[in-house]
Amino acid sequence: MTYIANSIEARDVASLVHMQTNLRKHQQEGPLVIERGEGCRVFDNSGREYFESVAGLWCASLGFSSERLAKVAYEQMRKLGYYHLYRHRSTEPTIALAEELLKIAPVPMARVVFQCSGSEANDTAIKLAWYYWNTLGQLQRTKIIARQMAYHGNTCAAVSLSGKPDMHAGFGLPFANFKHTEFPHYYRRHEPGESELEFSTRMAEALETLIEAEGPDTIAAFFAEPVMGAGGAILPPQGYFEKIQEVLRKYDILFVADEVICGFARTGEMWGSQTFNIRPDMLTSAKALSAAMQPISAVLINNRIHEAMLAQSDKFGNFAHGFTYAGHPVASAVALEVQKIYSEMDIVGRAKRLGAVLQATLGDLKSHPLVGNVQGVGLILGMELMQDGEKRVPFDSTLKVGARVDAAATRHGLILRVVGDRLVFAPSLVIEEHEIEEIGRRLQRALDDVAKDLAN
Ligand SMILES: Cc1ncc(COP(=O)(O)O)c(C=O)c1O
Repeated sequence: MTYIANSIEARDVASLVHMQTNLRKHQQEGPLVIERGEGCRVFDNSGREYFESVAGLWCASLGFSSERLAKVAYEQMRKLGYYHLYRHRSTEPTIALAEELLKIAPVPMARVVFQCSGSEANDTAIKLAWYYWNTLGQLQRTKIIARQMAYHGNTCAAVSLSGKPDMHAGFGLPFANFKHTEFPHYYRRHEPGESELEFSTRMAEALETLIEAEGPDTIAAFFAEPVMGAGGAILPPQGYFEKIQEVLRKYDILFVADEVICGFARTGEMWGSQTFNIRPDMLTSAKALSAAMQPISAVLINNRIHEAMLAQSDKFGNFAHGFTYAGHPVASAVALEVQKIYSEMDIVGRAKRLGAVLQATLGDLKSHPLVGNVQGVGLILGMELMQDGEKRVPFDSTLKVGARVDAAATRHGLILRVVGDRLVFAPSLVIEEHEIEEIGRRLQRALDDVAKDLAN
């Protein structure tokens, strides 16, 4: 394809590298340039409107523009546009944000460690798990367990933690210390007649087998997202986290809840840990923490971890970790204002109410011939496209049904997230009932187009 000289598309192709994108195809097809946002809708540079059904990357929880947050950022930049947290320095917005997070934490937490992204938060939590066992003299506890198809980010450690082979390929990753237990996708992976509870027991047994095989006293921590996001919006099957936590307690393995997607009402409670009875030692958070208006993330640590960190300062004289922009005052001020907005909106109540609408509206599409299963909680939902939903027969992967629905949806003005043949929905928390219904209608048109296409 040749682009008009100096068009924005030509400039993009000539200058940018795009993440999670086929770079060769991008040279030919160019970008979709998004110019502005209004609530949960975005508009491209030709003025075309799209309903964004995944809040960008599951993060723009208050929509795609905000006068109120812009003013907060502006005022903070005028007053103090940068300072850091190194060597005892501090700033008021960052302190206030830490206090707020400790107040709303799902379990008692002792302190907050700030960074700039979800990946960095998970990287930091990995380091803190190692630091913790180092304090206790258990230097051999270096292995970290996560799940196949989990997604925890893309720094070297966070992507090693992730269980997505496509993100390891060509990079020589994962690092050897990172192990992956079973992908708890009940719909796709249960045996005929196996109940959710029985499936969860099997998942917990697989975890225990892995721990025993690796050596329990070599395992530092287990990481899990309450709902697996990039794996396809996969809900934990009934009893799953209860059984998993029993195993972790038995071997005294730390539990880190990755709440980067689930935090701040996505699952219909403030935290996914509350929805699924998870009691983590550390919790990582990002995305909706600042409604994605500023890059900021946080690790909440319990007293057990904090006491160990204090002991390490006694020993080494310093907590030798940090990032230049961690706890940035502008990002903190914006995130703090976001928390105020959540409280004014009764974000949990809203997520419950609109979550029920999302589940019912998109749940109606379960009878569509392309749809095998629909499952969700709060304002997150996964839809499995299957050749035969009842018998659980997937489409031939060469048909690329998910990608075709994605392309059809874009034509109908709907931006989706597709994971293989699974469609994922996690709209902004400010979405209105009629907008959910519009998403349902546009999706139905896209599914109908692809069904017709497949029949020919
Ligand atoms: C569960 C989870 N953890 C971590 C991350 C990484 O966050 P970031 O892209 O901000 O590094 C993501 C990103 O999608 C995520 O979904």
